[in-house]
Amino acid sequence: MARPRSVYACTECGAQSPRWLGRCPSCGAWSTLVEEAVGSARGAERDVFTAPSGGPAPKPIAIGEVEASRAPRIRTGIEEVDRVLGGGLVPGSVVLLGGEPGIGKSTLSLQVAAELAAAADDGERPVLYVSGEESPEQVRLRADRLGGAAGRVLIVPETRVEALVEPWRALRPALVLVDSIQTMRTERIESAAGSVAQVRESAAMLSALAREQGSAVLLIGHVTKEGTIAGPRVLEHLVDVVLGFEGERTHAFRVLRAAKNRFGSTAEIGVFHMSEGGLEPVSNPSELFLAERRAGAPGSCIVPVLEGTRPLLVELQTLVAPAGYGTARRTCLGIDDGRVALLLAVLERHAGVDLCARDVYVNVTGGVRVVEPAVDLALVLALASSRLEIAVPADTVVCGEVGLGGEVRRVGRLDLRVRESLRLGFRRALLPARRDATAFAGIEAVEVHDVAEAVAWLRRHGRSAGPRRDALS
Ligand code: TYD
Ligand code: MG
Repeated sequence: MARPRSVYACTECGAQSPRWLGRCPSCGAWSTLVEEAVGSARGAERDVFTAPSGGPAPKPIAIGEVEASRAPRIRTGIEEVDRVLGGGLVPGSVVLLGGEPGIGKSTLSLQVAAELAAAADDGERPVLYVSGEESPEQVRLRADRLGGAAGRVLIVPETRVEALVEPWRALRPALVLVDSIQTMRTERIESAAGSVAQVRESAAMLSALAREQGSAVLLIGHVTKEGTIAGPRVLEHLVDVVLGFEGERTHAFRVLRAAKNRFGSTAEIGVFHMSEGGLEPVSNPSELFLAERRAGAPGSCIVPVLEGTRPLLVELQTLVAPAGYGTARRTCLGIDDGRVALLLAVLERHAGVDLCARDVYVNVTGGVRVVEPAVDLALVLALASSRLEIAVPADTVVCGEVGLGGEVRRVGRLDLRVRESLRLGFRRALLPARRDATAFAGIEAVEVHDVAEAVAWLRRHGRSAGPRRDALS
């Protein structure tokens, strides 16, 4: 009988079984057995007392004696990508680029590959594109669409990891793109491509090759809306950098964000616009996000959010409408629904805005996602604005965190936020009360202590949108 190439290990207790079982015989946990290759990190037990293979045992040294090498960076040439990476790709490291199908991962990767390949001189290390999903002809079509700059990128249609070893060692590429990790498979695992075991083992082997050859590797991984399918989630601990490519497919904006970065901050974002000729960097996102705004419409509020070191003005849109039968609906796009539910409760309780039996819809325009608590006050005001049918003045931005007691809390870097608002023509800002009330030149700062005060300000200064419909019914 052939020696089994894989075992099933319990993710809870580590017990192993030669077959898959629904329940771990050792700890009794359900559905915790996953396939692993024999000989992989957590695979079959090896005698820990035999001599290590591949060189002598290491000698520990003091951290102070470690040579501080500054990791050289490979600049991709796309400013928005380099900033998110923390200055560029690090040779020998692995970057995972996750995103929903169709969002533009292959397009972005090919653009990065094209920039690098075009910048490389003859004789320099090439760029290798491993395509497991599309044929070289399809990739060629995309390359043509991007203006043909990808002409010098080497392509290999392959899904077997083992088959990549030889060309990889021969070419010693500076960058290897793998599109996608879900299509890759290794002979060390018996299950189908795309399974957790295959994805994990393939990625581990590719990162070993990356380190061996000093190549930067970009793994592309699909995630579904729920983020459940075998893919990026199971790889996050294995790679150096995890990038997410986000956006609504029906919108042209795409945001690149780092969820983990061993070589830089995770606060920076890159903004792109999907056009006919590929992804275009957007250096002035606020202007684009506000371009289609209907100024002075009830339910809308502009907030300066901070993404990394960059302030960004986004529009929050809300619609509060009488609920039909059954429970009231809460639908949120681009913002956490838990946060919205909390702020609705605060608004009702502390500002006396009646939201009982109302459907609530929230949308962040442009398809961006906001995560900062600094948007709280703007959301509260947008909700009140829709409910009361009073528009927030068109020249006003709103910013501040809201606590459960209705209090408005301070947020970081007000100066940056105010400056960006000014640059885009806003003249007034509703802000948390500050201790050092330094004036911002050019902008009227209205300080509010709690949500009741903010709503009272709206009633006084907002523009009423005609007779209220429910007053008539
Ligand atoms: P793609 O990169 O294939 O997405 P992913 O690899 O994440 O699945 O691109 C998806 C969409 O982008 C596709 O619907 C077509 C669109 N697109 C453009 O609008 N302009 C372009 O120049 C390219 C190449 C693609
Ligand atoms: Mg793709």
